Amino acid sequence: MLAPRDRLILALDVPSVAAATALVEQLGDAVSFYKIGYQLAFAGGLAFAETLVRADKRVFLDLKLHDIGNTVAKGVESVAHLGATFLTVHAYPQTMKAAIAARGNAALRILAVTVLTSYDDADLATAGYGLGVSELVGRRAVQAREIGVDGLVCSAEEAVSLRTLVGRGMALVTPGIRPAGAAAGDQKRVMTPARAIAAGADYLVIGRPIVEAPDPKAVAEAIVDEIAAAAQA
Ligand code: C5P
Repeated sequence: MLAPRDRLILALDVPSVAAATALVEQLGDAVSFYKIGYQLAFAGGLAFAETLVRADKRVFLDLKLHDIGNTVAKGVESVAHLGATFLTVHAYPQTMKAAIAARGNAALRILAVTVLTSYDDADLATAGYGLGVSELVGRRAVQAREIGVDGLVCSAEEAVSLRTLVGRGMALVTPGIRPAGAAAGDQKRVMTPARAIAAGADYLVIGRPIVEAPDPKAVAEAIVDEIAAAAQA
């Protein structure tokens, strides 16, 4: 059983290590898990990931790797040495197999991104695919499970059907979460923390509703309370 506090992953979508440091200090014990994506990773965020790990925080490196197997494997080995808990790769069979083999017995868990949520059926057709989004998500989720991938990044709306498809053994990590009343921003399909937990999400990735709040710590604590209540329901 995961503690409610450990199920919130704060997206550190900020431009510099200085901004990230200030935010992490401000959040204190309210947040234990941080996601670092392209923006911060390419601005000193990988060294900052090690700083967070030394401070007993957990780190999700959202690097969405995809390359030939050998290159993916070497990258995964380097990420494992940083002490990260989660790393994303695109859900291509070669890429997933290489990542799972390379993480070996390290604590690092591999998450697969099935189909980017910015893609619709028409975008897939333009890119040369013969399947629609839901068919491709389903096919890749099953491939991920067969390869031994540790979890999937998915929308909370997909969580119910993916849970049926992949079972309890894989972590479902869901962005697109908005506390009731928060601005959706560019997220098109949003769910509250409580509904996402009820839908079967294990971890909630939340950025702007916390980062842009006047009191980020208070918002994070309220979300953890909401997760705790939903997990007991
Ligand atoms: O600010 P917000 O709560 O929308 O941040 C969500 C985070 O999750 C961002 O870092 C975004 O890149 C990431 N994400 C997403 N949708 C996906 C995958 C990742 O919003 N399908």
